[in-house]
Amino acid sequence: MSSTTPRKTPKTRTAPRAKAKASNRNAPAAKAAQQSQPVATRAPKVAPRAPQTNASLLTRREAAVPRGVASAAPVFASHAENAELWDVEGNRYIDFAGGIAVLNTGHRHPKVVEAAKAQEDHYTHTSFQVVPYEPYVALAERLNALAPGAHPKKTLLVTTGAEAVENAVKIARVATGRTGVIAFSGSYHGRTLLTLGMTGKIAPYKKNVGPFPADVFRAPFPSVRDGITVADALTGLQNLFLTDAQPDRIAAIIIEPVLGEGGYIPVPFEMMQALREICDTHGILLIADEIQAGFGRTGSWFAVEHSGVVPDLITVAKSMAGGYPIAGVIGRADIMDSVEPGGLGGTYGGNPVACAAALAAIDAIETEGLLPRSAAIGETMRARFAEIGGRTSPFRMWDIRGLGAMLAIEFVTDFETERPDTALTKSVVAHALKRGLILLSCGMHGNALRIMVPLTASDAIIEEGLAIFEAALADAVAELGV
Ligand SMILES: Cc1ncc(COP(=O)(O)O)c(C=O)c1O
Repeated sequence: MSSTTPRKTPKTRTAPRAKAKASNRNAPAAKAAQQSQPVATRAPKVAPRAPQTNASLLTRREAAVPRGVASAAPVFASHAENAELWDVEGNRYIDFAGGIAVLNTGHRHPKVVEAAKAQEDHYTHTSFQVVPYEPYVALAERLNALAPGAHPKKTLLVTTGAEAVENAVKIARVATGRTGVIAFSGSYHGRTLLTLGMTGKIAPYKKNVGPFPADVFRAPFPSVRDGITVADALTGLQNLFLTDAQPDRIAAIIIEPVLGEGGYIPVPFEMMQALREICDTHGILLIADEIQAGFGRTGSWFAVEHSGVVPDLITVAKSMAGGYPIAGVIGRADIMDSVEPGGLGGTYGGNPVACAAALAAIDAIETEGLLPRSAAIGETMRARFAEIGGRTSPFRMWDIRGLGAMLAIEFVTDFETERPDTALTKSVVAHALKRGLILLSCGMHGNALRIMVPLTASDAIIEEGLAIFEAALADAVAELGV
């Protein structure tokens, strides 16, 4: 029973915490919390729509949308603001899922919405490959400056995380003249065929879908939870080099600095450092997949920064643009330039509205002090989860882990066997939704809850969400008779 607590305090590049208080969005709620008064939540003004019910929409959805596109919540969104969402029946929810780690700056951040609207008044699409535009270049410049490493960098923009990962592999192959890719068990890199081949979890993503592209190898992820130490993981990697993956045929090793879908498990810093050395020894490129962990989730711009390691390529998406679909590959300029003109891109890649949104979201993270805010949220929530676990479900909340506000709590049937308790986790999620809190699970056994609350959420909203979580956990414990 141990926790993967990071050894270093998060590094940040922004102004100290005081700046976070300057955020208009946090200020009223924080003040209200200090005065111990109930916090008024304000629904945004929205034009009325024809009345709908969740049940009728669910019926239409089931008839029109394949069941493979699963939804965690059986309710339909009407509107949302910062860390709150309302369904079509007017029920209010606190959002701890943030659209799967997309909303570090919250729903409809005013600066993001304003920037997107302003861009829409100019043009919404030209295709960068036909007529280029400044927001793409500005975002590339911004990302090149933010990414770790003093070397010259260049950025490719695409639309989804999986597309970014696919392109990172393409670039690595062209740059090295090698084909092999090593990914880790428990990793998640997307749902396209190559990225599924790299993803290290079968159900539900890979089930019955293979065969997957060749030359993708799997190394063990260092997980204290599964008894795999850094030394074990490195031995596994060396064995892979001896048995299946010829090191001088390997183009890239890709790793999530904090395992996302796989359970919010931070990669120990010595593992990241060892991977850097191994890559340097064999001429392999190191790719950090920051799609879920980037843009403040862990208290720094990129989670890999905590380890001091500088990767060759970084894949980004999700919270980069506060809710708009855009992704990218940031990398060493010489590596990024190895692909011939025309070899990279896509019709919609780096859409101008999404670029404008991304620039505004990055500004918001910087000016509202969201990196230190992430670290503070992480500390508060760790402490509160420990308290709640002790009160509500001793011997069940097995681990509270993560980096900054990228936190997960894991449930087990008992401390002796440490058997994952998927049923309890599902029940907590369902009861939380009924009580007005959106939660999402993760982990190889779906027995961890991950926290992706907007970093712009006020202390009062976070507390309200935690109180709902505690009540939902009590409901689940009562329901399952545990
Ligand atoms: C680490 C990581 N890589 C890649 C992806 C794929 O991104 P997308 O769903 O935008 O294709 C995800 C999505 O959750 C992710 O968390």
